[in-house]
Amino acid sequence: MPSASTQERLTVIADTSGVHTNDLAREVEAGLSSSPKTLPCRFFYDKDGSVLFEQICELPEYYVTRTEKEILDDRADEIATLLPKATTLVELGSGSSTKTRVLIEAFLRRHGSLRYVPMDISRTMLEESSIALLEDYAGLQITAIAAEYKAGLQRLEKVQPPAKLVLWLGSTIGNFDRGEAARFLRSVSHTMRPQDRLLAGIDLRKDRSTLVRAYDDGAGVTAQFNRNILHRINRELDAEIDTSAFEHEARYDENLGRVEMHLVSNREQNVRIGALELEVSFDKGETIHTECSYKYSIEEIEELAARSDLCVVERWFDDARRFSLNLFRGKTD
Ligand code: AVI
Repeated sequence: MPSASTQERLTVIADTSGVHTNDLAREVEAGLSSSPKTLPCRFFYDKDGSVLFEQICELPEYYVTRTEKEILDDRADEIATLLPKATTLVELGSGSSTKTRVLIEAFLRRHGSLRYVPMDISRTMLEESSIALLEDYAGLQITAIAAEYKAGLQRLEKVQPPAKLVLWLGSTIGNFDRGEAARFLRSVSHTMRPQDRLLAGIDLRKDRSTLVRAYDDGAGVTAQFNRNILHRINRELDAEIDTSAFEHEARYDENLGRVEMHLVSNREQNVRIGALELEVSFDKGETIHTECSYKYSIEEIEELAARSDLCVVERWFDDARRFSLNLFRGKTD
């Protein structure tokens, strides 16, 4: 039971306007009827998928989380000095807020108090992580927004804090294609006033073997994460997919600068999806493309900023230059 002081410092806003309950059915029907077959990666994250993703973040091969944390540990105090006292921290896709703690602590050290606005689609995760944070930090106030990014940002515009730092960590941007990423960042930049900043973690292009290992780890956790989308279809759409008949595969397309995850049918087979009254046939070796994870060069980050009406204020790297943390401001001209 959270204490009275914790509850007084927490406001939860739920906006489900962008969330459609039959999304999964619609997308599975469209994706498995198309050629090549696809499934959107946002469906990885049910309860089991979210647990598997937290495990991926701890894997030795998945350098993404560790290197971003390394940069945040080194630079959090410097970042706090670059923003004014009444800055509100807004986090897109906050999840468990683990990495954000280092920034929260730096802002509290510098300014004594802080408002944090985590946004996430999972209300349970938001409430649990908000309560844990409020119990640890007395100077913190939280307004948690349970919504999709777009609806969440619209909510925030109505409040307009004196200054805000929008956090978009974990290279989640990589799961958007380059055009979508620019369109989304543009919509963020249009909510930014001159004193506001955006801090985005963006994974960098690097050698093929490091990338493929990061998405096809030795312990098979990423394979389980990928196959979970099939388990989810079995559970939620009354399907009878033999998940062992699909192999996990990670490929790097260097031209496009993206890692792709696929589920490869290891035999010719038909799959029935009861709730859709649909039978899908697979050739041996045919794949379902489940995720793209785009990697950026510095030039591509600059190009992205230009297309999004943003300017880079500062950029930091980990020691091995695997990952970048980018502080942007809106373009004012
Ligand atoms: C959430 N997202 C940034 C992860 C990524 O690296 O693209 C998802 C992931 N997929 C496989 N491993 C991690």
